[in-house]
Amino acid sequence: MKNKEIVPGVFSVGVVDWNMRNFHGHTYATKRGTSYNSYLVVDDKIALVDTVYGPFSKELIENIRRIVPLDKISYVVANHVETDHSGALPEIMKLCPKAIVLGTSKCKEGLYKNYYGTWDFKEVKTGDSISLGKKTLSFIEAPMIHWPDSMFTYLPEEELLMPNDAFGQHLASCYLFADEVDPCQLWDEAAKYYANILWPLGGLIAKKISEVQKLNIPIKVIAPSHGLIWRKDPMEIVKKYLSWANNEVKQKGVVVYETMWGATEKMARSISMGMVEAGLEVKVFDVNQSDRTEVVKEMLDSKFFVFGSSTHDNSMLPSMAGFLEFVRGLSPKNRSAYAFGSYGWAGGAVRDIEKVITASGMSLAKPGLGIRYVPDENETKACFAFGQDLAAGK
Ligand code: FEO
Repeated sequence: MKNKEIVPGVFSVGVVDWNMRNFHGHTYATKRGTSYNSYLVVDDKIALVDTVYGPFSKELIENIRRIVPLDKISYVVANHVETDHSGALPEIMKLCPKAIVLGTSKCKEGLYKNYYGTWDFKEVKTGDSISLGKKTLSFIEAPMIHWPDSMFTYLPEEELLMPNDAFGQHLASCYLFADEVDPCQLWDEAAKYYANILWPLGGLIAKKISEVQKLNIPIKVIAPSHGLIWRKDPMEIVKKYLSWANNEVKQKGVVVYETMWGATEKMARSISMGMVEAGLEVKVFDVNQSDRTEVVKEMLDSKFFVFGSSTHDNSMLPSMAGFLEFVRGLSPKNRSAYAFGSYGWAGGAVRDIEKVITASGMSLAKPGLGIRYVPDENETKACFAFGQDLAAGK
């Protein structure tokens, strides 16, 4: 891919990973691939801001070589330790051994424990800056957004923020800028990224955005480390992050269930019809037929979560248990959640779903609905009414 000057003197030298389908192990299905963005700041001194995932080291090196010889690089900024941004660092440092690596103290520790490199490392913190000549690298620590080592780099002369993972999307593209791609795909991937990676960190994200706003630094371009660069109204994604971080939700419900012989599915269909009848926007997912990454994205702006499972061995079915374990890790706030399911004799699934709801910090707004075996006509009506009532807050 051709290098591009994203603002005067700053070149995109990262790589596109068209084939990445399972990110973070198998926690995130990246159906549209991703990119590992790296930026080369060319001034009297030259700085590389972040590297790329290790298997793409050679491509990064070639991208840089087309602009400058590698031994001219004075600084390599490591905004984040995670290997998708630091994996190429050992290869880069072989070619520019005199370069100084810049990062937070946690970054220093993390890089050492990943690569055991003996590189010259300078710790930086919020407010520190380094002059490259006419341009300056300024640093803003961003701990736990999303690792303890995370940091943003800002170039005041170009009003360019390079916030690493924040504001990214897993979206492979031949284009560099957000305004060049299909906005539906772009925002879908931005929401999926926030929901699946950043959701539990909402409180810290809102605080960090407020801190950056207080610094009163102008931002013309936001260049994240994954996906497309925001240059046209870059504050739009910041506002969206604030809305997600503040748990702003709409009158929308997500019904997720696992069924053994179809009775719990029958309940899910009737409950969801009741919710629609009461005016909610509703999405329904059989957990075994659905992409969890997508389901979690749909939950991000939903007020109502409705979880169902047949009872098996006195508890919920295993796929639903795995799904709810993931949801528990998201610690969703400002959500009303409900349980339902079919059982044969003793039950147990509804009780155990409710335990997870309570332990996750969601509000269990109403006792769950269990139905023995297959719902009859009256029980089907009861499911419909359950959906209507939960939408009405009854
Ligand atoms: Fe894209 Fe936290 O790495």
